[in-house]
Amino acid sequence: MKESQAVVQRVRRLDKNYQRIEIAIDSSLQTIKPGNALLARPKSMRQDRLWHPYLRTVWWPVDLKNQLVVVDRPTSERFEPGDVIDIIAPIGQPYRFRRSLHNVLLIAYDTDPSCLLLNIPWLVKNNIGVTLVLLGRAREYPFQSLPPQVEIALGEDDDKMLEWQSQVTSIGNADQAFVAVAPADEMASFQEIWTVFLKRRNDIGKNYLFGVFQNLLPCGVGACDACMIPTKDGFKLACVDGPAFDLATLPFIS
Ligand code: FES
Repeated sequence: MKESQAVVQRVRRLDKNYQRIEIAIDSSLQTIKPGNALLARPKSMRQDRLWHPYLRTVWWPVDLKNQLVVVDRPTSERFEPGDVIDIIAPIGQPYRFRRSLHNVLLIAYDTDPSCLLLNIPWLVKNNIGVTLVLLGRAREYPFQSLPPQVEIALGEDDDKMLEWQSQVTSIGNADQAFVAVAPADEMASFQEIWTVFLKRRNDIGKNYLFGVFQNLLPCGVGACDACMIPTKDGFKLACVDGPAFDLATLPFIS
C-alpha cells in the first residue's frame, strides 16, 4: 500500500445519477484486484463538496484498462480531465474465489453495486457465468454499461424487495455469491440475505456466501479500529481483513 497521485483522464456521464471516470494511476498500482479499494481525496478546490470528516472516501474500481482505473462516481461530484486525486491503495484483500467455479452470483441490495463490479471482467474473461442481481435502490444503477455476457436480474417492488424472478435457479446454480448491502445497517441486511439463501438451500457451507462491507475507513491501514467486524473468530478489520467476510463466520447468522 502506498500514497500516490492519480490524474483524471476522461469523464463520461452514464445517466443522471452516475458518471464514469478514468484515472491514470501510479504504475505500482497496476496489480489492483477485485476486492481492493482506493482511498481517494481529490485535490482540486472544485471538489470542496466531497469533503467529509475522514477526508478520504472509498472508491471501488469497476474496471482496469490500459493502465487506467475506471471508477463510477455520483454526478453530484464534479470532475474534469486533469484533476489530481490523492490516492492510498490498494486497500483490503482480494476476493477469494474457489478454484472450481462455473457460476458466480453478485447481489447489490439497496446500494450502489460498484464494490462488486471489478469481478466482472475477470469472470467473463475466464468463461465463468455471472448473474448480477439489483435489489431496491440498486435497481437505479445503469447496468446497460456492463458486458452483455452478464445476466441481470432486477428485484421486485418494495414489499417484495428481496425477491427476483430467477431466484431459485440463480441461488441454486451459484458456486459462490458476493453480496453488498446499504452501509447504514449492514449486519441487519446481511441477516436478511442469509435468510433468503437459507430458504433456497438446505445448507450454506463455508466459502460460499460473502458479505462485502463498505465501512467508512478513517485510516485504511488497521490503525484506528473504526472498521471492526465481529466474527466467530473475534474482531476483524474491514480495511485489512475485508472487505469480504464469509457470512457463515459471522456470529449473528443462524
Ligand atoms: S479504517 Fe482504521 S482500522 Fe480500519
